[in-house]
Amino acid sequence: MYEEGGHGGKRGKDGKRGNDGNARADRIGAEKAGPALGARVLPCAHLPSLSGLTAFTAFAATSSRSQASGPLSNPQPERPLSHYPIVLAFTGASGAPYGVRLLDVLARNRIPVWLIVSSHGLRLLHAECGIDSIDGLQQATGGDWSSVVPFPDEDRGALPASGSQRTGGMVVCPCSMGTVAAIAGGTSRSLVERAADVTLKERRKLILVPRETPLSLVHLRNLVSVTEAGAVVIPAAPGFYHRPTHISELVDFIVQRILDQLGQEIEISRRWSGKA
Ligand SMILES: Cc1cc2nc3c(=O)[nH]c(=O)nc-3n(C[C@H](O)[C@H](O)[C@H](O)COP(=O)(O)O)c2cc1C
Repeated sequence: MYEEGGHGGKRGKDGKRGNDGNARADRIGAEKAGPALGARVLPCAHLPSLSGLTAFTAFAATSSRSQASGPLSNPQPERPLSHYPIVLAFTGASGAPYGVRLLDVLARNRIPVWLIVSSHGLRLLHAECGIDSIDGLQQATGGDWSSVVPFPDEDRGALPASGSQRTGGMVVCPCSMGTVAAIAGGTSRSLVERAADVTLKERRKLILVPRETPLSLVHLRNLVSVTEAGAVVIPAAPGFYHRPTHISELVDFIVQRILDQLGQEIEISRRWSGKA
């Protein structure tokens, strides 16, 4: 049932990929880092009119052409790329811009990604970012998906469902409390849930980025369960000590924490320097 040894493959018209991923993974592993990543500028003055954060995704789509020149624009050093793919799942919690920005950074750095989007993940991508398809997500994240392989959430026999396939860990961003509950219960009723279950059983890093408020006792208990099982919970709760003036700085605050947990030496957000 599971294909051995591949990291995905070229996408066909139906958006699925074959199994020529080893060659591509090797090529990706030999390549160097992509273009420098700049912080995006999204004035807070736009906040009231930001239905679906369309401005965010519009900016994402153009950021390869226009690098921001502000103080958060950090050139990236040349560095080796991780060999194994990071499994990245979007589920149906608010916070789709965090996932979009994370995918944007990973794709632009040509870091191998296995992408899974739940049906409500896509619903939230549409509601919050104006993205209504996987192709739309590709356009919103720079367009170059040479290192990104999407998988359908319905296919529990796809590569991320097998522990025999080595990965660099998994991020669920954003992560609904429903998916937190499913991971805590080990239900594995979708590819997202199964891939998370596999990540835990193989003792690989599992990063969950939940967004819900307030939290019920059920939510809290499930978060404790997944943490006890080895997951890292990064609540989508950005700090303000870097005095953000743009939504992009709040988004990058969280994405920076995720990149740090993944061990990626990519700088997109100003760090605490000891004084405000
Ligand atoms: C507009 C909208 C916003 C939502 N926001 C959240 C949220 O912030 N956190 C959450 O846990 N669920 C939220 N939900 C509910 C989930 O989408 C729902 O529980 C869904 O079944 C999750 O499925 P999934 O985990 O397979 O993606 C939201 C739903 C909608 C339609």
